[in-house]
Amino acid sequence: MTNLDKQIKEYGKNHNVPITKDDTLDFLCQTINKENAKQILEIGTAIAFGSITMAENTSCEHIDTLEKDEQRFKIANENIKNHALQSKISTYLTDAMDYIKNCTKTYDLIYLDGPKGQYVNYLPYLTKILKVGGVIVADNLYFHGMVTGEIPVTKGCRSMIKGLHKYIEQITTNPIFETQILNIGDGVGVTKLKTACK
Ligand SMILES: C[S@@+](CC[C@H](N)C(=O)[O-])C[C@H]1O[C@@H](n2cnc3c(N)ncnc32)[C@H](O)[C@@H]1O
Repeated sequence: MTNLDKQIKEYGKNHNVPITKDDTLDFLCQTINKENAKQILEIGTAIAFGSITMAENTSCEHIDTLEKDEQRFKIANENIKNHALQSKISTYLTDAMDYIKNCTKTYDLIYLDGPKGQYVNYLPYLTKILKVGGVIVADNLYFHGMVTGEIPVTKGCRSMIKGLHKYIEQITTNPIFETQILNIGDGVGVTKLKTACK
């Protein structure tokens, strides 16, 4: 890890900014390379640790990444500039739903790492902007054990956990998808779009 990367992680720790776990990011990068994914969409930029890692460690061509928090967006842009990755990573200050509803581009891989309770609501739009054969990698499907039932669901997390259960049901039962849920990090879903969504 470079000094710049260490600085981003340190900033995240000190300012309470969530950053994807190392094992999840390793897996994500391996998946991008294995699938030969060139056009990537990330939902949830935070301060761009994930997008910088993908840009530097995979053969992808371009990453679009979405963040709704203005302060994080600003820091993300500085970090991307410091890594000289402005031509490979495009950042958008937006609510993810607004972007995916109006998006005219298509992607080979979508990394879902934004608001967990919204994954299921994003799905109908994601299937329109994901190429057939493309993959959705979704982080935090276990949500610290609250989804798997290992720890009780706290009051404030109820609707998010409900949303995650619905997302898992969709990706595992809808025949347009082929899904694996892996014991990596906080639970990672890998969903391939087998056929176009009508
Ligand atoms: C877990 S962090 C992303 C970490 C990042 N992927 C990384 O690897 O460094 C989730 C981010 O999603 C952002 N977010 C939450 N709701 C959002 C929304 N509706 N639209 C866009 N971004 C959102 C949060 O502000 C937060 O920065």
